[in-house]
Amino acid sequence: MEVKLVNFQQHGDERGHLVAVEEGKEIPFTIKRVYYIYDTAKNVRRGYHAHKSLHQVLFCVNGACTIHLDDGEECKEVRLDKPYEGLYIDNLTWREMYDFTDGAVLMVLASELYNEDDYIRNYQEFIDYVREVRK
Ligand code: TYD
Repeated sequence: MEVKLVNFQQHGDERGHLVAVEEGKEIPFTIKRVYYIYDTAKNVRRGYHAHKSLHQVLFCVNGACTIHLDDGEECKEVRLDKPYEGLYIDNLTWREMYDFTDGAVLMVLASELYNEDDYIRNYQEFIDYVREVRK
């Protein structure tokens, strides 16, 4: 599965911490879009989709949440609970996000502008699609 959890450098001193994220360095794609998810209740599970070509890096910049990942062959759960950790997710990975703590903010850097045509929102369609692509 093409997912990677990367520790970003923290620039910390007595004033607090700062993390810098630069395109072409830690982020292996052009950052065309940034979006963030907040005010998600603890009992909510969201996502339930994969992308045909979009690549993303997820940061839980406040609080914590869990990401369920599935590439059609294996599944993984990754707890994002550090603001300096980035989770790289490539295309054709089904994702669900859950177990958000109070105040959790999930920030996502994306390689493309929003395009609903790039989404696969039906799990069986996702499985059929990856099987076809990987033939
Ligand atoms: P949705 O895809 O349902 O969120 P999740 O990541 O939990 O699956 O997106 C929620 C709404 O936001 C939906 O109406 C589409 C819209 N949206 C945008 O307009 N731009 C974006 O970049 C994203 C990610 C979503």
